[in-house]
Order: sequence, then structure tokens, then C-alpha cells
Amino acid sequence: KSKVNVKTIVKMKGREKIAMITAYDYVSAKLVDSAGVDIILVGDSVGMVAHGFTSTLPVDMAMMLLHLSSVTRAQPRALVVGDMPFLSYEASIEEAVRNAGLMMKTGADAVKLEGGLEYEETVKALVKAGIPVMGHIGLNPQRALLIGGYKKRGVSEKEREKILEDAKALERAGAFSIVIEYTSADVAKEVTEQVSIPTICIGSGPWCDGQVLVFHDLLGLSENPPPFSKQYANLKEIITNAVRSYVEEVKTGRFPEERHYFIEKKD
Ligand code: KIV
Ligand code: NA
Repeated sequence: KSKVNVKTIVKMKGREKIAMITAYDYVSAKLVDSAGVDIILVGDSVGMVAHGFTSTLPVDMAMMLLHLSSVTRAQPRALVVGDMPFLSYEASIEEAVRNAGLMMKTGADAVKLEGGLEYEETVKALVKAGIPVMGHIGLNPQRALLIGGYKKRGVSEKEREKILEDAKALERAGAFSIVIEYTSADVAKEVTEQVSIPTICIGSGPWCDGQVLVFHDLLGLSENPPPFSKQYANLKEIITNAVRSYVEEVKTGRFPEERHYFIEKKD
């Protein structure tokens, strides 16, 4: 199968559901790509699930580029999207273009940023520079402090209208797809029906054009998975058991075995 590009993703709307997952390094990128995902997101969630931060706010460009370069060296077939971290695109359009450009130079196929209507001009400028953009509306974890935490979105009528406006602004600005996070499923459905670009949902119901999950949540490696994630395997248990066996074999002298070492003949 050939490399996925943004046109491939746009054409999937209404035809085939889009499967997106995060990955943060070479090994996980190889694994998820061989499992057949359409999009790999190098998400700023890396700060929480791999670096132990309690929010995504401390994540910076240096951290993102290090993880992104590890992922792109796996040369995935999937589209690779680099997540714009907090303070990499908000202060000015010029900073946004420069930072998104660094993502592209590191091998990203597109970037994602949190926001809709307020970032319409920023998205336009990125697209003008040749950088494909994925929007992110509904719950925006980088701005969770404004609403008192990781709250459900699309609850009040005002919020529902705003989410629809955000989606339309992103479409107008030339975004190729939109992530909708933790939003009432009927609102996500309406957005999906009203825009021509694919919607990719997390915690926003089944009526989107695709779904996204965080690698560590899906595999049972997260300490605090969100209520809307699904765990498909318990790697925590598998890994802990394997390492426990190793520790025990070292302690009891059962490892290494003869085939794991050599005795060089003296001459
Ligand atoms: O950083 C991330 O993993 C994300 C997804 C949850 C969409 O932004
Ligand atoms: Na993110």
C-alpha cells in the first residue's frame, strides 16, 4: 500500500472510517504502522503519558521535534501529524509558521493545533506556507484551565453553536481535517454533516469520520486513562510480569544460561 497523504484522508470521508493513534517513537511508530492505522499523531499527550507531566502545558518544541524525528525515521505508510505544543503558535502567526515549518523539516506530513475560529488566520497562514493543518475543537487540553479542567464540551446551546462555528472556520481556513474532543456526540454528528472535511473523534461518539486514541491508553500503559478511552490490551501486566521473571532469574542465578555467554579458549 502506498503512503497516505492528506488528499487520501479527505477522500475517506463518507467512504471509510479513519483510524488514528498516537505514537511517540521509532518502535511504537513501526508497531502501529504495521497494524494498519491511517494516521499517526505525535501528540503533545507525550508530556503526560511518557514524561509524567500533569498537563500538556510544559511540552515544548524541542520535546516534540525529538519525538517526531524518532517517529519519522520509522518511515510509516501512515500520515504523520505533528502536534503543535502550547506556546508554539499562539503568540503570533509568524511564530506559528516557523514552528510548524520545523515540524515539516523534521518529516511531519501535517501539523495539528488546538483551536477553531480564534486561529482561522493562523491556519490560513500555515496552509499558505504549504503546511497541511488538522484542527482540534471541543475540549482543548492546552486551554483546560480556562474552563476549570478537562470538562465535557457541547453542553450549553452557546457552546454547541461555538463548536459548529469553530469547525466551519477551520474548513474555511483550509484545514484538511478536524479532531473533536470530549464533545456531546450529537454535536460532533452535526459538525460531521456540515463540513466537507473529515472529523476525527475522541470521546465524541460514533458519528465522526474517524476515531483517535492515545497509544498508552489503548494498550493499558496509562495511569489515568480518560473515561472515553478503550483498553485493548494490558501491556502493564505483560511488561511487569516479564521484568519480574528477569529479576527473579538474576536473583536465583537462572539467568544467564549457557547460551547467553562464552568462554574464550586460551592459547
Ligand atoms: O496529544 C494528543 O494525543 C491529542 C489527541 C488526544 C487528539 O491531541
Ligand atoms: Na494534543
